[in-house]
Amino acid sequence: MSLRLGDTAPDFSQDSTEGRINFHNWIGDSWAVLFSHPKDFTPVCTTELGEVARIKEEFAKRNCKILAVSVDTVEDHKRWSKDIEETQGQGPNYPILGDPDRKVADLYEMIHPNALDTLTVRTVFIIDANKKIRTMITYPASTGRNFDEILRVVDSLQLTDQYKVATPVNWRDGDDCIIVPTLTDPDELKEKFPDGYKMVKPYLRIVPQPNK
Ligand code: BEZ
Repeated sequence: MSLRLGDTAPDFSQDSTEGRINFHNWIGDSWAVLFSHPKDFTPVCTTELGEVARIKEEFAKRNCKILAVSVDTVEDHKRWSKDIEETQGQGPNYPILGDPDRKVADLYEMIHPNALDTLTVRTVFIIDANKKIRTMITYPASTGRNFDEILRVVDSLQLTDQYKVATPVNWRDGDDCIIVPTLTDPDELKEKFPDGYKMVKPYLRIVPQPNK
């Protein structure tokens, strides 16, 4: 059955470059980003895994762990990590799952046979502390991802959870936000937004970003 937003993220146990990972236990009270790449020792993947290592601290600030996966072995990941460090100036400082039996790839439907027959495409799953899938993004093998965009989505989701605001088109941290349409109770509106809001339309209510 296909995974959908709001589903519980499938749990698994699998070996990684940092030992065995029991996924739900490993997530604990954090959020998690699980992302697949097609293959070790390939160029685009090398740049991506280096970049994620460089910005790991940004994910940590958002209480978000990072976990990479491909259908290669842990031994290959470890050998390749040295190349990543050499060429990108930073080797992976987060675990990479070995998945030669495709357990995780199959559970998360990361293999799209009409695009790449046996390898994982570039997927990103953002999973919250309740282990719910909050975002799924799929990129082709030839396009390196923009991990600043992944951080932006984590920020948006966490703002919605904490403050009941959504984020408009091309929103960036610090920009105005939108009160979620489901929030209509006048008392709650007053409590959450004591300085008021700008009502452009009854369904389009603008507030400054609440945590700034
Ligand atoms: C790459 O990482 O460069 C790559 C991997 C698989 C297919 C195409 C590109």
